[in-house]
Amino acid sequence: MNIPILDLKAQYKSIKEEIIAATMEVYQSQRFILGPKVEALENEIAAYTQVKYAVGVSSGTDALLISLMSANICPGDLVVTSPYTFFSTAGSIARLGAIPVFVDIDPHTYNIDPEKLEKKISTLNTEERSRLKAIVPVHLFGQCADMEDIIAIAKSLDLVIIEDAAQAIGSEYRFSDGLFKRAGSMGAYGCFSFFPSKNLGSFGDGGMVTTNDEKKYQELKIIRVHGSQPKYYHRSIGGNFRLDALQAAILLVKFRYLDRWTEKRRENARIYRELFARKGVEEVELPFENKGRHIYNQFVIKVDRNRDELKQSLLNQGIGCEIYYPVPLHVQECFRYLGYRPEDCPVSVEAAAQTIALPIYPELKYEQIEYIVEKISSFYKGNVGS
Ligand SMILES: Cc1ncc(COP(=O)(O)O)c(C=O)c1O
Repeated sequence: MNIPILDLKAQYKSIKEEIIAATMEVYQSQRFILGPKVEALENEIAAYTQVKYAVGVSSGTDALLISLMSANICPGDLVVTSPYTFFSTAGSIARLGAIPVFVDIDPHTYNIDPEKLEKKISTLNTEERSRLKAIVPVHLFGQCADMEDIIAIAKSLDLVIIEDAAQAIGSEYRFSDGLFKRAGSMGAYGCFSFFPSKNLGSFGDGGMVTTNDEKKYQELKIIRVHGSQPKYYHRSIGGNFRLDALQAAILLVKFRYLDRWTEKRRENARIYRELFARKGVEEVELPFENKGRHIYNQFVIKVDRNRDELKQSLLNQGIGCEIYYPVPLHVQECFRYLGYRPEDCPVSVEAAAQTIALPIYPELKYEQIEYIVEKISSFYKGNVGS
């Protein structure tokens, strides 16, 4: 059986006519830069994320960058984030000359651990504290970071929260008073990616920033067009961070299916749980569901041994799988100047060595999940290849 890690062709097949019609509208209008499609998508995403405003941008990376710029993050400022994430979370901080401060993750959710965050902040001296400006929590794999504690810490120190919600559109966090909030609505800024592998993916690159603050919204729109307002008059230096109208048109079609697709992903996760439980594969730790709604952009398991051999065995048997992420950011070569040792974030190092993502896409069939679970079970029971 051949099971890819993601089957975008199957998804495209199911909505092909609508996509073609939507892109045709853009061709006919010949309006390719911003315009009504981008605005319509911004309105949809703002409402879906339960915020007042959204700004379409060129990628998830640029969503982070433009938010950090809007938050006035300057060279030498400290910005706390997770080392166990896609590169651009910390890359965008460093590109502004600011200093990423890595705080280790929780071993179950893989998201930044608020206790370690507090501890790390307590080790900063007064001068460093004065340069500490923001926290970038990442809602990894589609599950929200522990926002209640993070918000409390940020409030007490007057830090800006920029949520990296690139993998978490529609994900929800439940606060202790029972209130649910969506990823991207809990910080000053929420950053989304429409990279094709995301639950809502474009036909190329795209992203969105969400905010409840009108001033920030206006500012983001100005930074998005080189800092110009009015056109050709520049009070500040921005960039070309615009979302294409064509991508917006495609995303508007796909957005109509987002909840259906996400529910299918959640259902697939449930099937994995049921089948793994039936097989009793002790070596496998399944994704931990924290408070709220996990949208399963990725279904990541942790194995207690032979992760790389398992990956090879699955690939040999036609099962797509991926390592997210093999090298935590605190030990990446480009961040060597920050002086971290692997043991500074041991949980991230362990996750990088022991986790593996399995197919979870909406079109995945029950028999395919059965096959995957069977092969993993056989691997650990010594019947590799059976
Ligand atoms: C956690 C995280 N942050 C940021 C990004 C960057 O998004 P993009 O690839 O759209 O630039 C991604 C996407 O891959 C991501 O997964």
